[in-house]
Amino acid sequence: MSVLKNGKSGESYNISASNEIDNLEVVYGILKILNKSEKLIKFVSSRPGEDTRYSLDSTKIRRELGWEPKISFDEGIKKTIEWYQENKEWGANTSDEVYNETPWENKSWDNNMKGIILHGGHGTRLRPLTHTGPKQLLPIANKPMSQFCLEAISETGITDIAIVIGGVGSNKVREYYGNGEKFGVKITYIEQDEPRGIAHAVRLCKEFVNDEKFLVFLGDNIIQKSIIDFVENFKNSDYDATVLLCEVDNPSRFGIADVENDNIIKITEKPKNPKSNLAVTGIYLLTPIIFEIIDKLKPSWRNELEITDALDNLLKQNNNISFERITDYWKDTGTPEDIIHANGEIIRKMLENSGANEDQMFGTDTVIESNVKIINPVIIGNNCHISSGSSIGPNVSVGDNTTISISSIENSIIMKNCKI
Ligand code: TTP
Repeated sequence: MSVLKNGKSGESYNISASNEIDNLEVVYGILKILNKSEKLIKFVSSRPGEDTRYSLDSTKIRRELGWEPKISFDEGIKKTIEWYQENKEWGANTSDEVYNETPWENKSWDNNMKGIILHGGHGTRLRPLTHTGPKQLLPIANKPMSQFCLEAISETGITDIAIVIGGVGSNKVREYYGNGEKFGVKITYIEQDEPRGIAHAVRLCKEFVNDEKFLVFLGDNIIQKSIIDFVENFKNSDYDATVLLCEVDNPSRFGIADVENDNIIKITEKPKNPKSNLAVTGIYLLTPIIFEIIDKLKPSWRNELEITDALDNLLKQNNNISFERITDYWKDTGTPEDIIHANGEIIRKMLENSGANEDQMFGTDTVIESNVKIINPVIIGNNCHISSGSSIGPNVSVGDNTTISISSIENSIIMKNCKI
């Protein structure tokens, strides 16, 4: 009530008794209230990201709104337990251990649109980096670039995601994303024997997609804007497909949409004389109609089933494709220069979102000695050591467990466990 009455709009207030308590203390406390034996405690291994103690600083709400807690933590937990005892149906799944019985893979997912991330391909332009693993696992701002796609998809509420894998190091993709539980989504892996084109990879997902509308995200495409609205608009539309277009400086490098009076007239892959500078980005909202089109597609001169050909044929057949514009950052990270650029942009945005709080950009147990020059944007991972006399930035990410001595580094991605 105090926040409702006197709180300032846009501010956050922590409400707590300002004590600090670890998980085990909470468990002992609960057992005591329930009059149960401590022998019931079962120790299990920790999950990634799990918290081990609870603490909230309520200085702000006390200072600004004069709020004071009326009950202690112990009293609060007692009341909570009493409430659950009176409302047993709220704890039924927990006491029946139902949550333990359903493996992540078998859970039912109630939203019906599906997501696909393409994680195969040749990656020729990124050799030699792609000799040992897929390019989509290369880090941008210390995170595999395809994780940005996964997070953008899951943010829209789509939780059933297929990852198409193939080629060198595809086992590393499985290892990293697992069944998706760590990321709050369910992941199915679909293997592509050879990089036979984006449309070929999409066609492999026919059974997975079933009869639903779906979203395809190329695992090497980076955008900063959320795609929630694009997905919502498509869900509520009758379009056979929606493509996301973005203005580019060098249109003959991309699939280009020729747009007249707000309608796409034609889509051409890498046109010699481009009619517009609107590139078709690697984010496609599709319906199963695309599978019929791909089935009739002929391989291109590079022996691939091209998604631009499929979309252009769909356009010819039904003329029912809409488009949305990405007006801020989009990058198709095919080359080293693209990745370095995306790295700088993403770190800059993260820094902006943190209110230019540099400390949030440095990981835990990282030591930056005095007399180190940080020229933002820079992100440094966990357990790193940067020695005095070094200059880091701009546009630099440094992976975990890296040591840097007396060096000057700019526009670079330093991976994990490096010594410079
Ligand atoms: P591209 O960048 O067009 O192709 P590529 O990954 O083979 O790279 P290069 O041109 O340097 O040889 O691929 C776009 C995305 O689609 C990328 O995330 C890889 C993925 N892809 C597949 O999953 N299967 C495929 O058959 C192809 C061609 C691409």
